[in-house]
Amino acid sequence: MRVLVTGGCGFIGSHVVRALLAEGHTVTNLDALTYAANPANLATVASHAHYRFVHGDICDVPLVRDLVAEADTVLNFAAETHVDRSLLDPGVFVRTDVEGVVTLLEAVRTTRDVMLVHMSTDEVFGSLPAGMEAAEEAPFAPTSPYSASKAAAELQIRAYAETYHLPVTVMRSCNVYGPNQHIEKFIPLFITRALAGAPLPLYGDGLQEREWIYVDDLVAAVRVVLAGLPRAPGVHAIHIGTGERLPNRAVAETICRLAGGNESLIQRVGDRPGHDRRYALDSGRLRARGWTPAVAIKEGLALTVRWYAENAAAWEPAQGAEFREYFQRQYGERLGAG
Ligand code: TYD
Repeated sequence: MRVLVTGGCGFIGSHVVRALLAEGHTVTNLDALTYAANPANLATVASHAHYRFVHGDICDVPLVRDLVAEADTVLNFAAETHVDRSLLDPGVFVRTDVEGVVTLLEAVRTTRDVMLVHMSTDEVFGSLPAGMEAAEEAPFAPTSPYSASKAAAELQIRAYAETYHLPVTVMRSCNVYGPNQHIEKFIPLFITRALAGAPLPLYGDGLQEREWIYVDDLVAAVRVVLAGLPRAPGVHAIHIGTGERLPNRAVAETICRLAGGNESLIQRVGDRPGHDRRYALDSGRLRARGWTPAVAIKEGLALTVRWYAENAAAWEPAQGAEFREYFQRQYGERLGAG
């Protein structure tokens, strides 16, 4: 395949780019190198003969049109993804997550023979009551500016698929974790702070439930999806979930143990406004295609803690001035008051 990956310097994108190259595909990586990107994630493949990096924005219409025209498959991982940042600065989420997708759709519409595969999230369904799982056809009920942007992108995809008879595959994943994730996200934030013996800001009662997937399992799922992309016009949604659902507090406690920290590091702080209580995906469709997760959360957390402990050089640069300013804005008062 000749794949255009967007956001390939990010967490998920970089794992997928490496896997695609290892499988013999040709990869162009379009990445705007915003704060969450880390080109070092791709250092080992930077000079690979079948890899090309293009520094650019998915909202750049002529650039995207040219790159899409060269590809047979477009894999969209470019996104603003952090809910807390979407509460502080929602505009950039609309631009990247919605306008960026429309730019891709326009390019795909005019190019035709190219398959668009888009990464979405379980958060488009909003908070689900205990015992309920969202199947692919469940109604959208997003609650944060982030999830509303992802749902809006999906509505644009539906509109284009319907109007222009495009086949588009939409993957919706549960929460992903593993090496190379930006340190602002829950698991890496708690790991890096636990390693430093710093307080861990647990929002509210910490009983919010998330479904977790180790990044290698996600990559395996993406490969299964890519191996059988439906070509019929329409939106083909597929859920990537493990069924491993845990309250945040349990994850925090496990991280404390693994990082050699004390559970007293966990500090309850003011809750995230509009905080969804529970996400859960029905991933039967993907499992019917032979995929099953290989890494249980306990093992995945141990691997992840070890990676952050042994690879400080990979993530310490992310603790620069921009992060310190964000951290102060997001946690300064909360931790001070806690
Ligand atoms: P996050 O990694 O932001 O993913 P999402 O909100 O998109 O699922 O957070 C995962 C969970 O952890 C979520 O319920 C919020 C919670 N959380 C905290 O309790 N403290 C924190 O500092 C962060 C970043 C998240």
